[in-house]
Amino acid sequence: MVETKSTAGLRGIIAGSTAICVVGAGGDNLRYRGYDVEDLAEHAIFEEVAHLLLYGHLPTRTELDAYQKRLRSMRGLPQSLKDVLERIPADTHPMDVLRTGVSMLGTLEPEQDRSHQDETADRVLAAMPSILGYWYRFTKSGERVDTATPDKTIAGQVLRLLTGREPSDERRRFLEASLIVYAEHEFNASTFTARVIAGTLSDLHSCITGAIGALRGPLHGGANEAAMELIEKFHSPEQAVAGVKQMLAHKEKVMGFGHAVYKRRDPRNAILKRWSEKLSKGAADAHLFPVSEAIETFMWEEKKLFPNADFYCASAYHFAGIETPMFTPLFACARASGWCSHVKEQRADNKLIRPGAEYVGPEPRPFVTIENR
Ligand code: COA
Repeated sequence: MVETKSTAGLRGIIAGSTAICVVGAGGDNLRYRGYDVEDLAEHAIFEEVAHLLLYGHLPTRTELDAYQKRLRSMRGLPQSLKDVLERIPADTHPMDVLRTGVSMLGTLEPEQDRSHQDETADRVLAAMPSILGYWYRFTKSGERVDTATPDKTIAGQVLRLLTGREPSDERRRFLEASLIVYAEHEFNASTFTARVIAGTLSDLHSCITGAIGALRGPLHGGANEAAMELIEKFHSPEQAVAGVKQMLAHKEKVMGFGHAVYKRRDPRNAILKRWSEKLSKGAADAHLFPVSEAIETFMWEEKKLFPNADFYCASAYHFAGIETPMFTPLFACARASGWCSHVKEQRADNKLIRPGAEYVGPEPRPFVTIENR
């Protein structure tokens, strides 16, 4: 008999291969198809990175123009999807709106033929910000907004839909960086979910709907909203340190800290911290930046835990005028590019994903009829 041992949370288990992204190779690095995420976040726009992930190479200027045109042409939503969005209660979490919206899209435009998977992926990528923006504006002000905004980029479209204003160049550039940083992260929980669903030969909308569900939890994408809720409680760095000290004493987790793969630092954090600091200048609640830094220093000193991407992204989104419940949905709109790329990769060399389990239940025993129990 082969002896097997379970590993909680599959930590350290190589569950497949991928050419899309490497996390932590030779240190705490993150590269998309060989390119360092720092370089991409500094110089690229989100559509360039989505093209890289989905189609394997950085687009030329002509390819990028054509890709952006294609995605823009896919921003409109079918009337029956808008009808459904209008019926979703206003107090619903927008991650549930996204999950419902993508699922509904799958009923209206089902993926019948896998040979059109690129078109389906691009459509999902283009539709997600529209689903979010349409529902948000309708529930907030009753406005039936035209989701095909004049913005060339998804970053600009999202900012305009969620803030109702012409975005500044600084905010546009920040949003590009945040979407790039959130676009892909190897076999994280939501991407793995998408691959498991793809492995059964299911359709792309099912993969994305399942992935949105996995991303929603506070141990994964939901951490950025939880981090914001924490930071906002404090009015000074001293108060923050006292509050977090108490949390640790009660064995509570501080959301936005720690990582399952990175051990010393999350390479995405430096990018987002810089943006948070920059955007905090002149903000009414600029004190939230020093509050965040005080928590960072304390968590390192006390627990040797470092901020992950979600910690400073939270305050940066806040300073950019985005409401907290939209943080994780924005993460989802970005990660959809990674999810779709992994679905394509899984399909290209598919094997049903079906691990074993270490049995810890009762020994074999005889069945007892109901009268004799
Ligand atoms: N706050 C306080 N303590 C934390 C912590 C955090 N954010 N993250 C880990 N720890 C502690 C655990 O309590 C545990 O302590 P113990 O050994 O005394 O019980 C230890 O560190 C190991 O925690 P564990 O959850 O098993 O670590 P992991 O490496 O398997 O998990 C995360 C990684 C991301 C799940 C974990 O760090 C976490 O829950 N972070 C908060 C949620 C978050 O920010 N998620 C987004 C990730 S990008």
